[in-house]
Amino acid sequence: MDIKAIIKESAELVEARLNELLPAEEAEPTTLHKAMRYSIFAGGKRIRPLLCLEAARACCGDATPALNAACALEALHTYTLIHDDLPSMDNDDLRRGRPTNHKVYGEGVAILAGDALLTEAFAMLASVPSNERYGVRDYVAELAYRTGSLTLVGGQVLDLEGEGRQLNEDELRAIHMGKTASLIIASVRLGAMAAGATHEQLEALTVYGRDLGLAFQIIDDILDVTSTPEVLGKSIGKDQKVQKATYPALVGIEKARAEARELTASAQAALGVFSDKRREVLLAINDYLLKRDY
Ligand code: IPE
Ligand code: IPE
Ligand code: MG
Ligand code: MG
Ligand code: MG
Repeated sequence: MDIKAIIKESAELVEARLNELLPAEEAEPTTLHKAMRYSIFAGGKRIRPLLCLEAARACCGDATPALNAACALEALHTYTLIHDDLPSMDNDDLRRGRPTNHKVYGEGVAILAGDALLTEAFAMLASVPSNERYGVRDYVAELAYRTGSLTLVGGQVLDLEGEGRQLNEDELRAIHMGKTASLIIASVRLGAMAAGATHEQLEALTVYGRDLGLAFQIIDDILDVTSTPEVLGKSIGKDQKVQKATYPALVGIEKARAEARELTASAQAALGVFSDKRREVLLAINDYLLKRDY
């Protein structure tokens, strides 16, 4: 299987739909719409939409019902990146290979572009078709729960409060769970729900998303130490600079890699309820993300 080709095809599909769903650059206020499009069309990996579409395909054999949910996830994710880069948060200058949003548009517009992408995400979700098991009410509740103060935003707060402090492994896991795994869980769950998943399928994908999501953040932390800005498209070495709580800082690079491998294996094991054919792409994504270097 050519997983790179699958990832590319899925990204193109999502980008084309996002282009239709988001207000045009010419819409007033043009600065705001330019800023929103600047960050979302900067060429991210589109992993969350991919997971959403492939979870739908695993459940019902078709990714189509999940397309607008996939776009909602990327819009919401992009808002978190714009805000994460602000001087009052991680204070980053480079994102997706370009100057960060606030560097180009100023802090005020960057904050508001993030706000607008967050709001648009829920509008996109409201257009996802209902099925015999799930409807818009369920989709909205799911995304709100996975990205609110008890989950993603809460995780970002713990991440900031963890700077310069020596955390234990449970505390670190709670940060990763909140700031990163939670949206990845929402990605597979929304795909599954849009596909009318059974309870068993939804539960299996929840575990898969959690473990893959935790591994994803560990790899992100490792790449902050081992990669280059050219490859990664963002600055490196910044976690150590501000003494972020990360796996490499807590247990070292080798143990962090081992932990990511273990989580990847348990994510794989969670997919036992799907047939070989139905789970093959999700397994390939899981493996690809462990080995990624960007
Ligand atoms: C970066 O996410 C933020 C994390 C949660 C680690 P990605 O690594 O998915 O960033 P893009 O979307 O490809 O730019
Ligand atoms: C970001 O984590 C998590 C969210 C944006 C919710 P990081 O701060 O590690 O992400 P990067 O390294 O800036 O992409
Ligand atoms: Mg951060
Ligand atoms: Mg950051
Ligand atoms: Mg990081």
